[in-house]
Amino acid sequence: MAADPPARRTVGWWRRRSLRFHLTVVASAVLALALVVSAYVMIGALGRSLLATVDGTIYQRARDTVSLADAGRLPDETTSPDGTLLQVIDRTGRITHATVGTDRLVPLLNAGERASAVRLGEARFLDGEPYGIPHMLRVRALSADRGQTVIAARPFSEVQTSINTASHVLVVGTPLLLVLLAGASWMVIGRTLRPIAALRRGADEITDTARSRRLPVPEARDEVHSLATTLNDMLARLEKADARQRALVSDAAHELRSPLASIRLQLEVALGHPRGQDWRETAEGVLEDTMRLARLAEDLLALARLDERGGTRGRREPVELDRLIPQTAERYGAAVTVRIPDGLGEARDGDRGGNGGQDGEGGGGGIVVTGDALDLGRVLVNLVDNALRHTNAPVVVELRAEGADAVLTVTDDGPGIPEPDRERVFDRFTRLDSARSRDEGGAGLGLAIVRETVHAHGGAVHLEDASPGLRAVVRLPLS
Ligand SMILES: Nc1ncnc2c1ncn2[C@@H]1O[C@H](COP(=O)(O)OP(=O)(O)O)[C@@H](O)[C@H]1O
Ligand SMILES: [Mg+2]
Repeated sequence: MAADPPARRTVGWWRRRSLRFHLTVVASAVLALALVVSAYVMIGALGRSLLATVDGTIYQRARDTVSLADAGRLPDETTSPDGTLLQVIDRTGRITHATVGTDRLVPLLNAGERASAVRLGEARFLDGEPYGIPHMLRVRALSADRGQTVIAARPFSEVQTSINTASHVLVVGTPLLLVLLAGASWMVIGRTLRPIAALRRGADEITDTARSRRLPVPEARDEVHSLATTLNDMLARLEKADARQRALVSDAAHELRSPLASIRLQLEVALGHPRGQDWRETAEGVLEDTMRLARLAEDLLALARLDERGGTRGRREPVELDRLIPQTAERYGAAVTVRIPDGLGEARDGDRGGNGGQDGEGGGGGIVVTGDALDLGRVLVNLVDNALRHTNAPVVVELRAEGADAVLTVTDDGPGIPEPDRERVFDRFTRLDSARSRDEGGAGLGLAIVRETVHAHGGAVHLEDASPGLRAVVRLPLS
């Protein structure tokens, strides 16, 4: 409400102008300063050089006249070819000779001035008015023999005229040049900024219209080009993430539908024919579907957490795999055999026997990686669940250190996965057809969670043929 002080308003006004305006104004201001300074210097130099020329001329004329006077050959009618005024004054102060148009009675300089002018040996200014000359004069006095003095003078007006002409040209020309250059700057800057304007328009259109749009990339390999490419890369990533998110939502909705439909059907049937209904059987069926829903929700949550972290592990703690793996496998009982090479096994047992309190230190020779124990445990569970679903024989889990990596393998002797599908199964919601028929199958998120968790821990996972069966191989960098 309170009126802004004018200075603040001006600053605000300036800030609101475009970049093009700012650049043009600043460039023009610098240019104007440079032009004014150079005009000033030029006029100064011109004046000095013209003055030097005039001074040179009158000195020359005076010298010539002195030579003639010394030789006593001064003509009665003194003439000067270039209009220089000359007076020759004898020792008594009388003018003996003068050029036509020059006062023959009054010397241009009186006795005192003559003496000081001769002594100084320099030209000086003199007002011509008292002598009937309507200009400033440049005057030089030289002494000759027999007490004579020669005075030479030239009107300064010619110099003044030249300087005035030059000044006029500059006064008119400089602003004109400035306007021209400012106009050129405005155009050049506009042209330079055009790709940025194009980028802005492109961005506008992207938000306005459908997805899958890219910003226009200028042809010139300049900063704007790299900016546009970088932004386009970012857009591509965002688009991919967006597509992934949409796919996830629609897949998840799709997966939710069948257990919900199944629950609904069972309940409707049971309620429609309450008489001959085996409620226990219904409850079991509903429970089974509910478990499926719960598993799906849990898997989705795990994936959401992985996405949230953007490919980094949740915690960064030392995880003793040689302890975590057997502990996790324990719940499967005899269905899973854990094998850890002897040396490590002993080291682990030794640790346990020695002092349980030192567990956190990571023990000598243990297989320790850095990360999130809960997430790594889930990796094993997902792999073992898959294996158990496809085999009847015990699943073999092996853990060993190999170079800088911990290698965890889960091997079953089931039907395996044909080579072309071994990568695809890691995608979200990917189940192979044979597995779709199995009731206990999940939503196809298990391996996706495995891969994303392992990647977040800086490792890699792949499936290979165990002939017969399948082997999942997880590599994690040791800490
Ligand atoms: N040990 C295995 N043997 C044979 N096929 C497997 C094995 N593990 C996974 N698969 C196949 O890979 C698909 C994807 O596995 P996963 O991502 O864990 O999803 P889900 O277990 O929910 O089906 C499974 O549907 C199955 O067809
Ligand atoms: Mg699974």
